[in-house]
Amino acid sequence: MPRAISLVRPDLTRCSDFLDCVSDFGGTPMDGSGIRDPTHPPVDQGDVTEFVAARLAEEDPATELPDGWVHCTSRWILDAETGEMLGFIATRHRLTPYLLEQGGHIGYSVRPMARRQGIASAALEIALLQAQELGINPVLITCDDDNPGSRRTIEKAGGELEDIRDGKRRYWIGDGPRPQA
Ligand SMILES: CC(C)(COP(=O)(O)OP(=O)(O)OC[C@H]1O[C@@H](n2cnc3c(N)ncnc32)[C@H](O)[C@@H]1OP(=O)(O)O)[C@@H](O)C(=O)NCCC(=O)NCCS
Repeated sequence: MPRAISLVRPDLTRCSDFLDCVSDFGGTPMDGSGIRDPTHPPVDQGDVTEFVAARLAEEDPATELPDGWVHCTSRWILDAETGEMLGFIATRHRLTPYLLEQGGHIGYSVRPMARRQGIASAALEIALLQAQELGINPVLITCDDDNPGSRRTIEKAGGELEDIRDGKRRYWIGDGPRPQA
């Protein structure tokens, strides 16, 4: 049985769990976390306060964003029973030219100690429902050609490979018209 998970909004009351989860990545990429430079993540309560506020603002369609940025719903992946933080998943509300080529709508990562237990697959299933609620159809999800775990996660979720661009496998899920680059 895969581990039951839930997705929750970034939340300052989970600050120490968040910092623990981030440190487990050891400076490696945390796709879907909103942490752009994994070698300089938030390290204390002050950083996390600012970080959580930024994630919540980014989700709100009323927030004005700098040119080239799109609204984005970030969620923390928790163990549904223990509340332990297991990773991150985020959904960009629309595609920019860069996201259409490389980044896609949804990004995710699972902390190293929790990998290969079905966590990314379960989180993606929920995020796809949330994407549907946001009216995103089809959803684009990409991964590096040499990332078998992410590739398998997307293919299990029904991703249809369109092509590989600059080493990125580009998959679509959903029956809406596919935007063309
Ligand atoms: C990719 C990643 C999110 C997978 O998370 P996960 O929770 O381990 O994935 P799951 O357990 O749901 O596994 C999904 C499928 O991929 C397979 N898989 C997972 N890791 C794998 C690996 N390293 N090599 C081969 N297959 C792998 C699993 O066996 C499973 O397939 P199955 O159900 O047929 O057995 C995780 O390895 C990670 O966070 N990596 C670093 C960040 C990253 O690459 N994010 C994705 C960017 S596109």
